[in-house]
Amino acid sequence: ADARITLHPDFRRGTVDRRLFGSFVEHLGRAVYTGIYEPGHESSDEHGFRRDVADLTRELGVSMVRYPGGNFVSNYVWEDAVGPVGQRKPFLDLAWRTVEPNLVGTDEFLQWAEREGVEPMMAVNLGTRGVAAAAALVEYCNGEAGTRWADLRIAHGRTEPYGVRLWCLGNEMDGPWQIGHKDAHEYGKLAAEAGKAMKLVDPSISLVVCGSSSMQMPTFGDWERTVLSYTYDLVDHISMHAYYEEVGGDRGSFLASGTAMDRFIDRVVASADAVGAERRSDKKITISFDEWNVWYLETRFPGETNLPIQRDAPRIIEDVYSGLDAVVVGDLLVTLLNHADRVPVAALAQLVNVIAPIMTEPGGEAWRQPTFHPFATTARLAHGTALDVRVDATAYDTARHGSVPTVTAAATVGDDGTLGLFVTNRSDREVEVDLAHVGAALELTEGWRMVADHEQAVHGPEHAAKVADACWSVVDTSAVVVGTVTGSTTVRL
Ligand code: AHR
Repeated sequence: ADARITLHPDFRRGTVDRRLFGSFVEHLGRAVYTGIYEPGHESSDEHGFRRDVADLTRELGVSMVRYPGGNFVSNYVWEDAVGPVGQRKPFLDLAWRTVEPNLVGTDEFLQWAEREGVEPMMAVNLGTRGVAAAAALVEYCNGEAGTRWADLRIAHGRTEPYGVRLWCLGNEMDGPWQIGHKDAHEYGKLAAEAGKAMKLVDPSISLVVCGSSSMQMPTFGDWERTVLSYTYDLVDHISMHAYYEEVGGDRGSFLASGTAMDRFIDRVVASADAVGAERRSDKKITISFDEWNVWYLETRFPGETNLPIQRDAPRIIEDVYSGLDAVVVGDLLVTLLNHADRVPVAALAQLVNVIAPIMTEPGGEAWRQPTFHPFATTARLAHGTALDVRVDATAYDTARHGSVPTVTAAATVGDDGTLGLFVTNRSDREVEVDLAHVGAALELTEGWRMVADHEQAVHGPEHAAKVADACWSVVDTSAVVVGTVTGSTTVRL
């Protein structure tokens, strides 16, 4: 075989946190309106939320949903979107230059998340707003009766606190495109003060401080160091965001996106640990990889500036995906699993319509994009402990990422002994898995394969299904060769 994967149950990397399978709903394009929410749609529930989308969200295995942005949060006035819907005023969102009708706000989202069994991850506005609005929002969500903002929630009909545990201190504050963009010192100080106040409202919350918007940002590294110098003792996680796309037909580089993500994680971990080392701190800051996906940002999206002002949930960045994109999504999940010890939280950006695994038509169907399948299957099969997998594979050269391995793999072992093995083969060569150390009895129960087909669907359920049919298939486990070769139990894939 050209590549060999060796598993040993005693070589462990870390526990797979269920929050690794998070996603993201931003007030952007059709993510909320005609995405999760569409009153009058035939599948909508009594709250106006689409049942078909909620069912697909469950099938996708999403554990957590980040809300309400994204760039949107950096000019959001959350108070405008609570209370009687008839009294709410539309708001001009400057991030996407879209009129936000404020029909869905904090209560509607949190109650949807509760009904659907997903953990909410909230973000506060540290662009145009600050300490007071952030602390007030925590109180509105989590406070007990008897103080102003908690009582406002109760007056709006919700007595029980929502108990939101995860909070983002703003979004991509290093990006010049961000409304209220700040330099690292300005942001670090503000995040420290906002976070302090938020934790004084509710000490049980966890905080995510903004890291760099991508590894390509000119301030990358310096940003992490400076921001953590203000917030190290206060926050639990630092955020990472990364989007990958095929540029100029360079398939080899695109297929290596998981390796690029791997190196990015190593660098952020090193930056965080360097701050901890200087402080002689035993605390470890972990990663919230709260935006990741394939996004044809450079190639297809015209840019976030100079958009005309739009209304009525415009179609913005509705990327349509191929089998190749889905393979890359699967490979990115392999990378995340291989960092289970330092990445407990991640969010596929986004959930519905906007660079999303789930698509809808207003008044019409909801369907799965090809990227849906590797995510759903990994979320379903990756449980328990992530193993430290040994991969011996040849390397190939790429224009964007240098030398990368032809094969990547992650494996998990659940409490019931079920082994999950996740492999990306970036070449067409044979891969052998050495399972000799895993256990005497080996029963292959199910297998799935995504083929890196280039053909991209056109928007619509039939085409998405056609592409998925062509690329996504059950592996006939009886056809997988299981044998004993030089004393090892091997599986040939
Ligand atoms: O997910 C789309 C956008 O990408 C988000 O609003 C922003 O945080 C990032 O730049």
